[in-house]
Amino acid sequence: MKHLIDLESLTTEELMEIIRLANAIKENPKEYSEVCRGKILATLFYEPSTRTQMSFKTAMLRLGGSVIGFDNPQNSSVSKGESLKDTITVVGGYADIIAIRHSMEGTAKAASLYSAAPVINAGDGGHLHPTQTLTDVVTLYNEKGTLDGMTIGLCGDLKNGRTVHSLIKTMSHFKGNRFVLISTPELMVPQYVKDVMNASGCRYSEVNSLSEALPMLDVLYMTRIQRERFRSFDEYEKQKGVFVLDREKLKLAKNDLKILHPLPRVDEIAEDVDYDSRAKYFIQTVYGMYARMALISTMLKTADRIPMPRQFDTHNIRCTNPNCITYTEEYLPKLFRPLGGDMLLCKYCDARNLI
Ligand code: NCD
Repeated sequence: MKHLIDLESLTTEELMEIIRLANAIKENPKEYSEVCRGKILATLFYEPSTRTQMSFKTAMLRLGGSVIGFDNPQNSSVSKGESLKDTITVVGGYADIIAIRHSMEGTAKAASLYSAAPVINAGDGGHLHPTQTLTDVVTLYNEKGTLDGMTIGLCGDLKNGRTVHSLIKTMSHFKGNRFVLISTPELMVPQYVKDVMNASGCRYSEVNSLSEALPMLDVLYMTRIQRERFRSFDEYEKQKGVFVLDREKLKLAKNDLKILHPLPRVDEIAEDVDYDSRAKYFIQTVYGMYARMALISTMLKTADRIPMPRQFDTHNIRCTNPNCITYTEEYLPKLFRPLGGDMLLCKYCDARNLI
C-alpha cells in the first residue's frame, strides 16, 4: 500500500487484515507500543478537525512514533501563497507518512503525486474520507459481528458527506448489504457513489422519511448537514433540522439497531439518544484510534519512499467540477479515466466530464 486515497485500492482481504490488526492492538496495546519508534507522522490539516486529527496523532504516539504538522494553514507558508505541490514536496522529505485534510476534492490524490512519503486522505472536501470508513467498519465488525447482509440506513447530507460516500463504496463490496438513503431530494448521493452500488449489484432505495425507514434498519448512519459546503446560508437553512433522531422515533427501530455518526453532531441526534444502548457514536471514536494505529503501522511496514521529482502526462481538458483541486492548483496534471463513449472520469474528484 503506497498511499491511502480511497479504500477502493484495498482488497476485501486487505481491509479485513486491518480490521483484525485494529482488534489485536485494542486487545494488547503494549505489544504495539514501539512498532513505529523513530518514525514521524505529519498531519497537514487545511480544514478544521477534532477527532480525525487527534486520533491520528494519538495513534502515532501510542505506536511509539512522533508527530509534526499544522492544523491551521494560516500559521504555515500556505498563508504566503505556497502551492500544495511545494508544501508536500518539502514535508514528504521530513516525515515518514503524511495525513492530509483539505476542502478541495482530490487534494490527497494531488498530494500523493509529489510526496516521497505515503499519503493518507484524511478528508478531501465533500468527496471521500477513507479513514472514517475504517473507523466505521471496525465499529460495525465489533458491534454487529459481521460486515455482510445488513440493511444500512444513511441519513442527512448524502451529497456533501464524504464519510457517507466512502462508507457506501466499501460496504457495497461485502455480501448482501442493502442501503436505504434517507435525504431531501437536494442532498442525495452523487453519481459516482451510485455507480459503485450499481456495479456491485447492491440494492438501494432513496427515501425522504426517517420514521418510515427506521423499522427495517440494522444500522443507522446519521450525518450532519455540511454547512461549509453550501453556496449560501439560505440554502443551508432550508436543509437543516429536517431529519432528527430522538427517543420517540427510536421506538420504531429494531432492538439490535446500531446508531453510528462520524461526529460532530449538530442537531440531528437528540442528546437523550446518547443514553440508549443502541447509540454507538462515542465508542466509534475509540475504534477509530485503533483503526488508525492499524493503518499507520501497516503502511509504514510496507511502503517504500518514492523517488521524487516525478513528471506526469497531462490531458488537454480541464475538470468541470468547481470543487476539484485542479481548479485552485492549476499546475496539476489533468488526469482522467475513460468511462466509455465520450465520458471521462476525473482521477482526482471522480466527477464525470464530457469530452
Ligand atoms: C466528518 C468529516 O470531517 O467529514 N468528521 C470526522 O472526520 N469525524 C464528518 C463531518 O464533518 O460532518
